[in-house]
Amino acid sequence: MTLQKSSVSALVNRMISPEVVVDRCSALQSKKQVILDEVAVSDVYQIGIGAFSPLTGFMSEDDYRSVVETMKLVNGAIWSIPVTLPVTEEFAATVKLDEEIALVRPDGVVCASMKVHHIYRPNLEHEAEMVYRTKEDAHPGVRRLYERGSVYLGGPVEVFADERVDEFSDFFFTPEQTRKAFADRGWKTIVGFQTRNPVHRAHEYIQKAALEIVDGLFLNPLIGPTKSDDVPADVRLRAYQTILKHYYPQNRVFFGVYKAAMRYAGPREAVMHALVRKNFGCTHFIVGRDHAGVGNYYGTYDAQHIFDNFDLDHLGITPLFFEHAFYCKKCEGMATPKTCPHDDSEHIILSGTKVRAMLSEGIAPPPEFSRPEVVKVLMEHYTKA
Ligand code: ADX
Repeated sequence: MTLQKSSVSALVNRMISPEVVVDRCSALQSKKQVILDEVAVSDVYQIGIGAFSPLTGFMSEDDYRSVVETMKLVNGAIWSIPVTLPVTEEFAATVKLDEEIALVRPDGVVCASMKVHHIYRPNLEHEAEMVYRTKEDAHPGVRRLYERGSVYLGGPVEVFADERVDEFSDFFFTPEQTRKAFADRGWKTIVGFQTRNPVHRAHEYIQKAALEIVDGLFLNPLIGPTKSDDVPADVRLRAYQTILKHYYPQNRVFFGVYKAAMRYAGPREAVMHALVRKNFGCTHFIVGRDHAGVGNYYGTYDAQHIFDNFDLDHLGITPLFFEHAFYCKKCEGMATPKTCPHDDSEHIILSGTKVRAMLSEGIAPPPEFSRPEVVKVLMEHYTKA
């Protein structure tokens, strides 16, 4: 396994500089407006700060087709998930090529401008089949794909700073800032960890196993749009702070939130998650069991196997694969099938659904599954709801 620092990739910056914000904003007042959905809003901001480098805007038809078919942009860069701006047929009929339009958040704030260089009609079922490996609208990512507009606009964006202040603001960093933070700490190898859940013992185990061989851990939970039965991000934030305080060496962990939308695209999303963490400055990225999966749509290790398609130097970040981790009563500790010889009956394994059901009934998951301090935070939320 390589532990060298990967070559540093160039970062895109599509944020509008403060000196011209007022002028740019007033110039956009007279332009046509697209009201973005919450996924497009989160995508715009990720493009703006360079988290989606090398993307400079919403995808052209050529890039879109290339990504859907080959997981690469036309220029050959690896990219696994389309980042597109869907609009209605009615709106598309009013827009001309090369026109500048205003991208507006649901709360009415103009968040970006976009030069419309491409207007095209995707084959949504084909996109679903290729990206999500299913056409079923029971899949939350596919359902959202079908519900969004049927025409895609492509072109570069210029993004206004997100001025909203909330409980996450102190933990939000641009890729430029995280790269600097890692360098300031003298870290040469950094492992990124994606999660949409509170950190449980299996997460902690694989993070710390990785931390044994790299300089720092970037705990980077996704807090953008998720499905309604996932644990809300504000509750998770309290849980992350609690577990970090009680169980992690402060000088080896950097905590920052990832404000993107969850796609639930399993393998393809694992690749995207890795590329984004490369942009944030990570050299390594953890992929465990059923990464970014939902229901039974993906095989347990499909999100690991997909990396076989890529040359790691080209990818620019090294995935660290972990098998299904659990607490083993015989071993009296965390383990995986790679390290534990005992029977399944000795293992404490709880699904997310089961844990949420327990919490809703006021039953605390056992300490072998989740740290008591984390359980306390979750119980407070689930029993008051
Ligand atoms: S995800 O949708 O963000 O991937 P989750 O928060 O459950 O979901 O997982 C975060 C990371 O931990 C992913 O890489 C996932 O594969 C890994 N993971 C989750 N649970 C386990 C487990 N029991 N054993 C090994 N890896 C796990």
